[in-house]
Amino acid sequence: MKFLRWILAISLLCLVLLNISCTTEHKTLTIKKEKFGMVDGKQADLYTLTNAKGMVVKITNYGGIIQTLTAPDRNGRYEDVVLGYDSLEQYVNNSPYFGAIIGRYGNRIARGRFTLNGVEYKLATNNGVNHLHGGIKGFDKVLWQAKPVKTDSTVGLELTYLSKDGEEGYPGNLNVKVVYTLSNENELKMEYTATTDKPTPVNLTNHSYFNFTGCKTDVLNHQLWINADRFLPVDSTLIPTGELRPVEGTPFDFRQPTAIGARINVDDEQLKFGEGYDHCWVLNDWDRTVKLQLSVYEPTTGRFMEMFTDQSGVQFYSGNFLDGSIAGKKGIVYKHRYGLVLETQHFPDSPNHPNFPSTILKPGETYHTVTVFKFGSK
Ligand code: GLA
Repeated sequence: MKFLRWILAISLLCLVLLNISCTTEHKTLTIKKEKFGMVDGKQADLYTLTNAKGMVVKITNYGGIIQTLTAPDRNGRYEDVVLGYDSLEQYVNNSPYFGAIIGRYGNRIARGRFTLNGVEYKLATNNGVNHLHGGIKGFDKVLWQAKPVKTDSTVGLELTYLSKDGEEGYPGNLNVKVVYTLSNENELKMEYTATTDKPTPVNLTNHSYFNFTGCKTDVLNHQLWINADRFLPVDSTLIPTGELRPVEGTPFDFRQPTAIGARINVDDEQLKFGEGYDHCWVLNDWDRTVKLQLSVYEPTTGRFMEMFTDQSGVQFYSGNFLDGSIAGKKGIVYKHRYGLVLETQHFPDSPNHPNFPSTILKPGETYHTVTVFKFGSK
């Protein structure tokens, strides 16, 4: 009898200890590194960041791509909510900028030309006659140096890259640093810093495609709120005309949360040019402080994301060029409008629009910008 009691006591103790170790493991912030593949004869890695709630963000130092990002639904179920691929090779071969860092200049520069201090610069053109997302080999297609960073309440990855003078036609050696940080409050913070040795345009952003249904259907039912009274109309090649047009009375008014699909197919010249939404919104109250400027809510799962930024604009792209020709993670086919992209940035083609806030970084200055995506459910 006594012996049996001892066995019982020891087993109970073991169970308690096991439980403690499981909980502590779950409660810590972790970062794990594994090989993702080879590119240009060099190894690219995949870093898995996990927070105490169990949210997972996987980032590769190839293009600084967010490969996986899980978010909770209203039943607490975490599911991957970003588009992308399972293998590095697929990213290298054919990616519409899935999850990547975009630079040196997010979005388009008209005809790949701009003049700075009397000198005309010619950039690589990779989007018809225009320059898009940094050119032929933008920051989305290069290997970054990676270093895990940890504090008591966050886990993160610091990425650095030297963009050489003349790369894709840009002037100046640009030292770039992007730090991704995951908190226990389900926030993913992106902090971008850059310095240069010659004046150059800089406009960095991230190009994650979100789908809060977990890619079960398109994003047209997602409700979007944007704190913007104005947007930038474009020409037929998606270059801003220079006008800051009021959203009032247009399908671009998201000042009340509205389903993305509610007006996307109405007869509107701007929607025709973009084949849907592919425009930059002028965020209200821009004062370079980080503030809540946008949210997205998906009613069937209850998932939502809040976007905090210090940027003057957000390019909202409704996945219009996705056409079912890409099979992504787990073989899921990304059909028309299966992802939405929210690129916080300065305005496209700013170097050619003196009335837009300047995107020129000068030697001695530091480019610095922060965007936070916070995930939850209701
Ligand atoms: C940005 C552009 C779009 C498109 C996508 C990627 O959002 O504005 O026109 O190029 O990137 O396909």
